[in-house]
Amino acid sequence: MRCNPENQAKFNVAVVGATGAVGEELFRVMEAYDFPINNLVPLASARSAGEKIEFAGKEHTVLELAETVFEENEVDIAFFSAGGSISEKFAKYAVEGGAVVIDNTSHFRMDPNVPLVVPEVNPEDIALWKETGIIANPNCSTIQMVLSLKPLDELYGIKRVDVSTYQAVSGAGKAGMEELVKQMQDMLTFKLDDSKIEAFAHQIVNNVIPQIDVKQPNYFTKEEMKMVNETQKILHKNIAVAATCVRVPVLRSHSESITVTFEDGIDVDVAEVREALEKFENVEVIDDLENSAYPMPIISTDTDTTFVGRIRKDIYDENVVHFFNVADQVRVGAATNSVRIALKWIEMENDI
Ligand code: A2P
Repeated sequence: MRCNPENQAKFNVAVVGATGAVGEELFRVMEAYDFPINNLVPLASARSAGEKIEFAGKEHTVLELAETVFEENEVDIAFFSAGGSISEKFAKYAVEGGAVVIDNTSHFRMDPNVPLVVPEVNPEDIALWKETGIIANPNCSTIQMVLSLKPLDELYGIKRVDVSTYQAVSGAGKAGMEELVKQMQDMLTFKLDDSKIEAFAHQIVNNVIPQIDVKQPNYFTKEEMKMVNETQKILHKNIAVAATCVRVPVLRSHSESITVTFEDGIDVDVAEVREALEKFENVEVIDDLENSAYPMPIISTDTDTTFVGRIRKDIYDENVVHFFNVADQVRVGAATNSVRIALKWIEMENDI
């Protein structure tokens, strides 16, 4: 931590994966939040080393990620967003170099000594960072879901969650977005037969793919099991979760159709559910079906809010509610959550 003349703490901040979809968004979010930066250190692979990045009106040169780069640049906070294998290999060098690591990959998430944090939901878990020097950012689909589950769990107590996702291609990074755009162009020019299929298992334009990440022994996918395990870790509760994760041809913002079963004996009052969601930090309810007003990706994209709507009580079981939830997963599900973790960490560590 460095201090400027006004004695306000400022930090040397590294972004690993600075040229990627989440890395680029991190810069935008840090600027929007007026993040207290002393020196910015953008890091990527040798392919991008030397490229320039604009941040707060200044140009910064991308450096190649290396073991020594954190110590050499006296990095205080290191955001990692370059894939699990990079975090596995390099996070320790950042920690040894004196930084707190905020990791956006799945690599450390289920490590019992690493806190898994959504600051609006379980900020107190950040204190565990001292064990390893690492704080994990949850999976994007999990973040927007727990943001709406937490107030409902406080209201009635949740027993079970059934969720189907409609996930944007940006979840697969820039390559995912580029593949959808290229296939859109190829479809309109009748060249789809020759279009590349690399980022996803199948053509994504004009299609939906009911598989995100690899098969697990129980026939759920890895993405689906992340939603199970991470939800339980964040909420500190063995809530039953069944997820079906689906890729859809949307550029940005994940949508989720969620069914929540509360404890036995609960009689859901939709007005109470709506009020609890409305009051929760960074959650907004849009729910006017008569006027076709509900959350959609075109509403949430480029915002830091999780939108909830289509709230309705089950027609058979009094303790069940259904709703629809949408958030910009590059922001709420990644960059913004990471920045909010860092700001909370600064507040806690510096007793602000
Ligand atoms: P680069 O652009 O140099 O390949 P996305 O999630 O959009 O696919 O972005 C992945 C990010 O991770 C990019 O910034 C990419 O940098 C970075 N990255 C990928 N492989 C490495 C590596 N071996 N070392 C450092 N950064 C890497």
